[in-house]
Amino acid sequence: MGNCGTREENAVVAAHAQVQQLHLSQHPAKNAIAGRKHTHISSDISNPSTPRKIEDAKNISIYNDVIAFTFFELETITKSFRADYVLGEGGFGTVYKGYIDENVRVGLKSLPVAVKVLNRDGHQGHREWLTEINFLGQLRHPNLVKLIGYCCEDDHRLLVYEFMFRGSLEKHLFRNTTPLPWGTRMSIALGAARGLACLHNAQRPVIFRDFKTSNILLDSDYTAKLSDFGLAKAGPEGDETHVSTRVMGTYGYAAPEYVMTGHLTTRSDVYSFGVVLLELLTGRKSIDKSRPSREQSLVDWALPKLNDKRRLLQIIDPKLQGQYSVRAAHKACILAFYCLSHNPKSRPIISDVVETLEPLQGSGSSDGSSQSSDLPDYRARRRLTGNSVHFRAIPHRKCSPAVPVCRVR
Ligand SMILES: Nc1ncnc2c1ncn2[C@@H]1O[C@H](COP(=O)(O)OP(=O)(O)OP(=O)(O)O)[C@@H](O)[C@H]1O
Ligand SMILES: [Mg+2]
Repeated sequence: MGNCGTREENAVVAAHAQVQQLHLSQHPAKNAIAGRKHTHISSDISNPSTPRKIEDAKNISIYNDVIAFTFFELETITKSFRADYVLGEGGFGTVYKGYIDENVRVGLKSLPVAVKVLNRDGHQGHREWLTEINFLGQLRHPNLVKLIGYCCEDDHRLLVYEFMFRGSLEKHLFRNTTPLPWGTRMSIALGAARGLACLHNAQRPVIFRDFKTSNILLDSDYTAKLSDFGLAKAGPEGDETHVSTRVMGTYGYAAPEYVMTGHLTTRSDVYSFGVVLLELLTGRKSIDKSRPSREQSLVDWALPKLNDKRRLLQIIDPKLQGQYSVRAAHKACILAFYCLSHNPKSRPIISDVVETLEPLQGSGSSDGSSQSSDLPDYRARRRLTGNSVHFRAIPHRKCSPAVPVCRVR
């Protein structure tokens, strides 16, 4: 049994308190989600109230294992941020490959890393940088990207992560010519769900808020890990049922109630998970302007089919060439359908998602009889029949038994 236990819960709460304390400037509310890939707040590095170094905020002590790098060290390992070291670019800035070892600093373990450099002209600012350190610096889980360190020197803000050998799921699904096999897709879905479960099952849940294929990174063995905690939020406390926030996230993935009202719950992440699951099942992007207008929004195109047993399999990625278990595909489609429920309360909790995906592992056969084991009886009956099924709220498991650790160091 994993142990997302008291230490982590306290740490997450502590992190939240610090994020609150350290959220430095008031940003005007803005709802800029529609029609944009990223929604961002502007950088506040120039704000004089911004701590110039993380030590200023007196929170360094809780990040014992997170290394404070100097800018010179990170400049050295990326060969002065050379163009051929670029791994990718996002809303935060450019990501470079690097390698740390004893030559960089005595005592450092040899390790390939990814160095994310805050773009000073970019939309995401110090606030996201700090949120990322606060959450990711304390969480350790096999399905969360490990934060190795950071740099906060003058106006430089950088983050150093474990290097994820195969890059993003987005690249593998939409840019690589070799299609991901069915079994790999199901194991990625499960890994990503376990990463979310670790966050949601903390005593004070952490809402990821930007769950999408580009934020799911893949290790050499295709283990899925969540990255980018810049928009993460500590969940509701006490009698609250949601957190009201400025709408941030990515168009095509954000839950409808969040886009419309700014009300954020862990079920908003479950909706985004449903979108990613649909992308895995169909090989289509959540928003694809190159398709005919009826098909541009993946959810709008797929939902009517997901609700019709006879048409359900029409959505499965043709690139799989039938190499999947029909039965497992049915179950995964129905899971996506419930995750995408308009009513957040009709969506499963993430532990339910994990439990549903676990038996679908190893279901790569094209034989309709499927090698995968069934869903637990009560689930199979309730999920595969009827239109108004609600997922049972199962007792909170801090982490799935199959997940070895979920803890704060
Ligand atoms: N730890 C890592 N290991 C390997 N590659 C990485 C790592 N982190 C990021 N990358 C690469 O850098 C790219 C950009 O990542 P980044 O998170 O900055 O942007 P994004 O996810 O595409 O967009 P957004 O800013 O909306 O999150 C990723 O798609 C991935 O290819
Ligand atoms: Mg990202």
